[in-house]
Amino acid sequence: MQRSAAIETESLQRARDQVAQARHLVCLTGAGLSAESGIPTFRDAQKGLWSRFDPAELASEPAFRKAPGRVWSWYRERYESVRAASPNPGHKALALIQSRARDCRIVSQNVDDLLERGGASNVYRLHGDITRCKCSECARPWAHPASPWKHEAPPTCDCGGLMRPDVVWFGEFLDPAIWNRCLEAAANCDVALVVGTSGMVAPASDLPELAASQGAAIIEVNPERTGLSQWADLWLQGSAARVLPALVPSARPAGD
Ligand code: OAD
Repeated sequence: MQRSAAIETESLQRARDQVAQARHLVCLTGAGLSAESGIPTFRDAQKGLWSRFDPAELASEPAFRKAPGRVWSWYRERYESVRAASPNPGHKALALIQSRARDCRIVSQNVDDLLERGGASNVYRLHGDITRCKCSECARPWAHPASPWKHEAPPTCDCGGLMRPDVVWFGEFLDPAIWNRCLEAAANCDVALVVGTSGMVAPASDLPELAASQGAAIIEVNPERTGLSQWADLWLQGSAARVLPALVPSARPAGD
């Protein structure tokens, strides 16, 4: 017991040093980061969204065409739960890590805004933003002052198209500008923190391998082993809200 606690402390200490000394740090986050804010993950066997709902019926363009009202209501409920949620100590710790790093890019697969509300800035939002909507025909963003989510059914754009959440659905491409920034960050980092993602969805799941192939140290924070653990130099077993605060450097590196 004592021995495993000592090993855990040693890994934590090594990870803290690597984070503090990183010249270019990348943090890749997934649904596990927001789990302790009460936002369900996707693939948890009991409580995950995809254990209760079929993604093809709700998170795809054909599903929206077939039943726009149904898809809208589901996202509206998810939006409401994001609005009611607060950043947890994991979000706040990542924001602090970013503010004390020489260079820290945060890549998030999450569509919530909890990282930004926790103080992080310039987050690369790979899978979009549930707080925003865009036209399903002309892609114009919702421009009215009142939230589109006040509507019980999808409101219409000036072009007549229906508004939809500004998230990336299955079968859709990522925004190439954002993806290129993520690739560049992963290829140039010396430390990558991989937090709360199962690594089941490409291409986001390719980023840790890319960073590792360029010599970066990979630190994984997750209660479970994942498909990404094979790239990890350190696995910090635990929840984001518990582990990330322990990785915050006490100050910016001297001389920077
Ligand atoms: P998943 O639901 O696939 O994986 C969540 C991960 O978080 C798992 O590895 C859990 O072990 C871990 N986890 C659970 N609780 C945690 C906690 N408190 N702290 C840290 N980790 C915890 O979610 P993602 O990997 O984010 O796509 O899923 C990737 C994409 O699949 C999502 O962005 C979404 C979904 O379909 C789109 O919306 C396009």
